[in-house]
Amino acid sequence: MDVSLRQVRDGDLPLFFDWMSDPVAVHAAAFTSEDPADRHAFDAHWARILADPAVVMRTVLADGAVAGSAGVYGPPDDREVTYWIDRARWGRGIATTALAALLVAVPERPLYARAAADNAGSRRVLEKCGFTVTGKDRGYANARGEETAELVFTLPG
Ligand SMILES: CC(C)(COP(=O)(O)OP(=O)(O)OC[C@H]1O[C@@H](n2cnc3c(N)ncnc32)[C@H](O)[C@@H]1OP(=O)(O)O)[C@@H](O)C(=O)NCCC(=O)NCCS
Repeated sequence: MDVSLRQVRDGDLPLFFDWMSDPVAVHAAAFTSEDPADRHAFDAHWARILADPAVVMRTVLADGAVAGSAGVYGPPDDREVTYWIDRARWGRGIATTALAALLVAVPERPLYARAAADNAGSRRVLEKCGFTVTGKDRGYANARGEETAELVFTLPG
């Protein structure tokens, strides 16, 4: 499968909204917005991040079709990666290839990531791209409605 990244277009956002409010995906990601089904909050959030020069956000294409998003955000000393793939396309290597491409496009190091400790798919994606577990945390996960264990990952310089 051919996986590539391009600039986010307005027409991608309704797809992102559907995938980022999918209850199974939201539960896996755990640390989500307060109400992922709130379209107004989603639109406001995406307007903010797409206008922020410190955020590198890309649309993931799989065989030319929009399949998800991947990006880097955060303050200079705590740059974090994030990604989200259409659930219908999980398990085909898209996130791994997309993150690898993002890491080539964004040379900043170190980079960090956080994932719910039980988000096995995300952990595997990060480890395949060279991140290692460097810390543990606990935080309130909106999607779970409770304190949830989190792993911190680092891709060193
Ligand atoms: C995590 C996520 C991005 C993975 O996307 P994906 O395109 O399915 O990932 P890949 O196909 O590249 O899978 C990479 C590896 O993870 C494994 N994997 C994927 N989902 C898994 C799961 N639920 N449980 C266990 N392993 C899983 C794959 O088998 C593969 O390992 P392998 O190469 O050893 O076979 C996707 O599930 C997702 O969008 N989840 C919701 C959002 C999210 O959690 N984002 C990350 C927040 S930290």
